[in-house]
Amino acid sequence: MVHDLSLQSPDSWTATRPIAPLIGKIRAPGDKSISHCALMLGALAVGRTEISGLLEGEDVLATAAAINGLGAYATRAGDRRWTVDGIGIAGLGEPEDLLDLGNSGTAARLLLGILATHPITAFVTGDASLRRRPMGRVVEPLSRFGARFVAREGARLPLAISGATNPIAITYRLPVPSAQVKSAVLLAGLNAPGTTTVIEPQPTRDHTERMLDHFGATVTTEPIEGGGKRITLQGYPELAAAPIAVPGDPSSAAFPLIAALIVPGSEVTIDGVGVNPLRTGLFECLREMGADLTLLNQHDEGGEPVADLRVRAGTLKGADIPAERAPRMIDEYPILAVAAACARGRTVMRGLAELRVKESHRLSAISAGLAACGVRVAVDGDTLTIDGNGGPPEGGVSITTHLDHRIAMAFLVLGLATRQPVRIDDAAPIATSFPCFLPLINALGGTIGKAA
Ligand code: S3P
Repeated sequence: MVHDLSLQSPDSWTATRPIAPLIGKIRAPGDKSISHCALMLGALAVGRTEISGLLEGEDVLATAAAINGLGAYATRAGDRRWTVDGIGIAGLGEPEDLLDLGNSGTAARLLLGILATHPITAFVTGDASLRRRPMGRVVEPLSRFGARFVAREGARLPLAISGATNPIAITYRLPVPSAQVKSAVLLAGLNAPGTTTVIEPQPTRDHTERMLDHFGATVTTEPIEGGGKRITLQGYPELAAAPIAVPGDPSSAAFPLIAALIVPGSEVTIDGVGVNPLRTGLFECLREMGADLTLLNQHDEGGEPVADLRVRAGTLKGADIPAERAPRMIDEYPILAVAAACARGRTVMRGLAELRVKESHRLSAISAGLAACGVRVAVDGDTLTIDGNGGPPEGGVSITTHLDHRIAMAFLVLGLATRQPVRIDDAAPIATSFPCFLPLINALGGTIGKAA
């Protein structure tokens, strides 16, 4: 079931500094991007796709409900195991009701890509956070395929889409480094004749390309001058159902990982985490900050690199994080900011323009929250500067999370290190990406609970 988080009564949680270190071995929940993609490509394939390790968070359940509304059949087969009976490219039928994608930008944008080249009409909406986010970035290229849209001002949800009857394949240069836009265009290209090309000046996560290849599509990637990539997809492939093993989400693993770094004496291992090089910018930052972080047991699973992460607490120092790294760690800035607040010295994070259009305006949510906790923080244009003094920040405040799961989790992790507890106003959005966050952190020795 998809919940409109804006209608739920706020669920306030508090994190307190534990008396003992965090110790143990855990498994992160399944990767959110890969889970969405597995369900959507499973729906477009012919036959039954078996998925293991699926993230059973609200965002992904919204995607499962949406593809079922379009005529595919996704169903739970066991713990994190799902099957999808696909209906083949061009097989989607008109949904009888609204498609509600909850809190998920990925679900909304990728699904609009698929719908853009199916000659059906659909009405797409989401929760209060998603309804604020810009859809123009996909409406523009998808219109070039021949899709028609009626949207709220600023191309916001809810919107109506009528897919093209005679789609035209396009060549599209990404104006912003966005894997969601790239994926939307490639998915639209599946049901268009000829070759669809995406040019990305800065490489972004490539899970969609990898999974398209895994399902039998012809998709090629070549480097272009300046470090970018050109991705081409042949239209009308025959996608064949294929088993998918979803790795652990590095963006979720980042929360227990940083918790272990900032709670003195901790040692934590997180098994089975995806370490696709287009997702590992955070690990580079942490190494530059002096973190004791080791990747063990590196191997490939279903076309994605995976490893166990072992992390030990230690003293962190500030670092200068270059703008070029942003696409490879775009979701990790809230939790990196927490590490920076506990480090000694100045951390500068550059090139953060995209943080303004995430589940919340993350630049202001991070800086307001850290400042309230007594941390010296400044925003100058797209640059965030944090001055840590090497000791625990003060805390002792309540943080407004703006329906943003990563802001909620980041400040709960900070509360494991601050002198006074940190409270968050609403933990409900955590269920979108990391439903077992609380028991998992507490199993390591964390002290997070519902606020009194
Ligand atoms: C995602 C891509 C990123 C990321 C989001 C998930 C994806 O967004 O922030 O959480 O699944 O492709 P953009 O590609 O829009 O930056």
